Amino acid sequence: MKPEELRKAFLDFFEKKGHEIVASSSLIPADPTSLFTSAGMQQFVPYLSGKVKPSYKRACSIQKCFRTGDLDEVGNAWHHTFFEMLGNWSFGDYFKEGAIDFALEFLTKDLKIPKEKLWVSVFKGEKEIPKDAKSIKVWQSRGIKREKISEFGMSENFWGPVGREGPCGPCSEVFYDLTGKPCEKGPPTISGGGCRPNCECDRFVEIWNLVFMEYNKDEKGRFEKLPEKNVDTGIGFERLLAVLQGKNSDYETDLFFPIIRGIQNQCSKKYEKNKREFRILADHLRGAAFLISEGVLPSNVEQGYVLRRILRRSIRYAKILDLPKNWYVEPAKRISEIYGDEYPEVRTKQENIITGIQREQEKFGKALERGLRQFEKLLEVKRVKIITGKEVFDLYQNYGFPLELTEELAKEKGFKVDKVGFKTELKTHKEISRAGAPKKFGGIGIEQVESKEEREKAKRLHTATHLLQAALREILGKHVKQMGSDITPERLRFDFSHPEKLTPEEIKKVENLVNEKIREDLIVKKEEMSFKEVLKSDVLAFFKEKYPEKVTVYSIVERSGKVFSKEVCGGPHVERTSTLGIFKIVKESPCGTGVRRIRAILK
Ligand code: SER
Repeated sequence: MKPEELRKAFLDFFEKKGHEIVASSSLIPADPTSLFTSAGMQQFVPYLSGKVKPSYKRACSIQKCFRTGDLDEVGNAWHHTFFEMLGNWSFGDYFKEGAIDFALEFLTKDLKIPKEKLWVSVFKGEKEIPKDAKSIKVWQSRGIKREKISEFGMSENFWGPVGREGPCGPCSEVFYDLTGKPCEKGPPTISGGGCRPNCECDRFVEIWNLVFMEYNKDEKGRFEKLPEKNVDTGIGFERLLAVLQGKNSDYETDLFFPIIRGIQNQCSKKYEKNKREFRILADHLRGAAFLISEGVLPSNVEQGYVLRRILRRSIRYAKILDLPKNWYVEPAKRISEIYGDEYPEVRTKQENIITGIQREQEKFGKALERGLRQFEKLLEVKRVKIITGKEVFDLYQNYGFPLELTEELAKEKGFKVDKVGFKTELKTHKEISRAGAPKKFGGIGIEQVESKEEREKAKRLHTATHLLQAALREILGKHVKQMGSDITPERLRFDFSHPEKLTPEEIKKVENLVNEKIREDLIVKKEEMSFKEVLKSDVLAFFKEKYPEKVTVYSIVERSGKVFSKEVCGGPHVERTSTLGIFKIVKESPCGTGVRRIRAILK
């Protein structure tokens, strides 16, 4: 089965079962407390938590995801940074039985996977959450033998929440038996030992996770029941495809192998003998391509830092494989061929992807060689197998080695890295070099700008963001609330709650209103308020943030004395709006369910 056929089969199946097909949301989530979209359910959190009523009870999607937690495992058969997740959801509609039936029907009837190849795991009960006896019963009654149903605790069979708080619940996972034979551990036992799902050997691969979301975990770690019982499921698309294509690794499927071939053609080393290196390169390049296609650029903060990390790691592996300097061009082209139809941004942004990587290669390629020599020198004189914080910082500062790269190099040589020491060094250095410089804009979307000129540009865009939010609320209505914000010296990005696409007229009106307020040369006033007062007044605050008791509030006041904008914010801002120039919205797009994203510039 080809990748596009599997995507279609999945959506067709769930559409026939009454599910609304929802488009993938961005890899950069509207909720700024998470760096990346790491699961299909993220855009549905307002529905799953019961805060917003969806207009449908069932949904399905193919979601672009990015995970950094598995970075060390990338290189084995089944782990990735970027991946696609096929998912189906029930919002207070079907529950355990329904989810299990759909999963079995899709796998065994539509995809024709023999039922004997399927094993499952269920939640055995832990803390105050009871054992999932119902799922065991359902699986058994549907023909899965009891010895193929394993029980695990919270660490394996309880999913979520994505951040510190939110919807979560016990889960039941479906595994595919690749070999049909137990490893040396022997067959599984009723008490829990033996070779069974989650065994360290290569026998099983997890393909589908069914989460029964009936709890909400609060900030303090307490579980409470959600108003509705929901289902949240996720299939690792690459894994299911590998199973269907009869491969023992995602990297050997049609999604990956052309990228690997594109690398192999440029060197004398072969995939068969250097699987880990080839896989890391293919995975990271694909991840980087998707991030760049969404506008992320390498930097030292947030998503940009993750991109830098994976690119610099790739540059090191390219060196290990002895690849030429432009090693990424061919494989990047393959990536747009493989994904261009499904994700047009990867095709249209192909040039940005290539130049983005090229810049990082130019920046880091030479420093890498010198840094590696420095690293070797360091090790030669060491008696204790620890690389100090200062040494890690030196590699970071002078050779551009991300902490994780030094950690990886150290691990290969049996050394440890003093991470805490490194962080202290980093902090001290930042405090010295950026004394007084603002670290945050908009109180979120941390962007550490490097020069004074860049700081000034970002400051103007920051004030423009306040004008924009006020204008959106005036033109579209008071339901508009900030859901996220990110400012670079070049542009602002603002995410806000609004159910539908803005019309060209609305965009024009918003632009005109912002420009009118710029021309009126209004004063931007700064004052201190207690947060309690803020809660009672109509000052806007971004409630995903934690605020101290005393907060700074910025107001933009019209000549008549009427307040146009008033927001809790860490600043900094310009003093008068006329310094902003001309405001222009360059893009308006969806950003998850009920959230829109605007990118704008100042000319
Ligand atoms: N949210 C669950 C997961 O990511 C099911 O999709 O595994």
